[in-house]
Amino acid sequence: MVQPLKQRKGRTMSSVTPRRKSSITDIRRRKGADEPFVCLTAYSAMMTEILDPHVDVLLVGDSVGTVLHGQDSTIPVTIDDMVLHAKSVAHAKPTALLVVDLPFGSYEADPRKAFENSARILKETGADAVKMEGGVTQGETIRFLTERGVPVMAHIGLRPQAVRATGGYRIVGKTDEECDALRADADAVAEAGAFSVVLEGVVEPLARELTERIDIPTIGIGASPACDGQILVTEDLLGMFDRTPKFVRRFAALRETIDAAVSEYATAVRKREFPSDAETYANDNGG
Ligand code: KIV
Repeated sequence: MVQPLKQRKGRTMSSVTPRRKSSITDIRRRKGADEPFVCLTAYSAMMTEILDPHVDVLLVGDSVGTVLHGQDSTIPVTIDDMVLHAKSVAHAKPTALLVVDLPFGSYEADPRKAFENSARILKETGADAVKMEGGVTQGETIRFLTERGVPVMAHIGLRPQAVRATGGYRIVGKTDEECDALRADADAVAEAGAFSVVLEGVVEPLARELTERIDIPTIGIGASPACDGQILVTEDLLGMFDRTPKFVRRFAALRETIDAAVSEYATAVRKREFPSDAETYANDNGG
């Protein structure tokens, strides 16, 4: 009984006027602009339809593992998972630039394997670019991909795929050693040809310095307002979780809204108040 997305398209919830498709060049041009660009995660066509009019970049993040699949890290996420969710997002035909995460194990060992997996994502889903975690260590792979036509968004600082090795979700840039390492990472991904770079969990003075240092746009998550763009996990900003990390603002309280709505529904069903006569099909033959 649920209508397919296409039939529901007329009922768009946004009043924002339609836009043309964003390109890699559009995002590159936002470097140093007064107004930061807006990025969010999306894993499904339905959410994409709601988010797309408001954002410049949609990321099918491997956070899908923790957010939707209940996994305790992004490590178990597979290429098949990413392709499935990216196809769903692409079905909504977003005008925002569509970027898909390369999951753990799909790119680190070998640039050729990274190319094969990236090509699969671009071919099967229609995504515009891939994202990968890593700085200096991934420079060669980023160059290999970009020289072969795969646009790459890099991701440095706190790297969720590396938490087993780094000892947890730690903010970075608090020691001179960490600052030097992050400067080298930022330089490496910019020189290798990444079109933008996510800075995750980076302290304010360093995030600002890195943004001024490199000539590609930086996208902050827990990395200060100094970045050229900002990204959040959509379910975090919508208030779907009990726990709110410091860098997240709950712009809505959907967890509480859903809880109240479902509780009302359950009560109405139990009291036989739902469905009402108005919600019940009459027999058109008068019988
Ligand atoms: O997987 C993800 O959602 C991400 C963003 C939070 C940057 O990498």
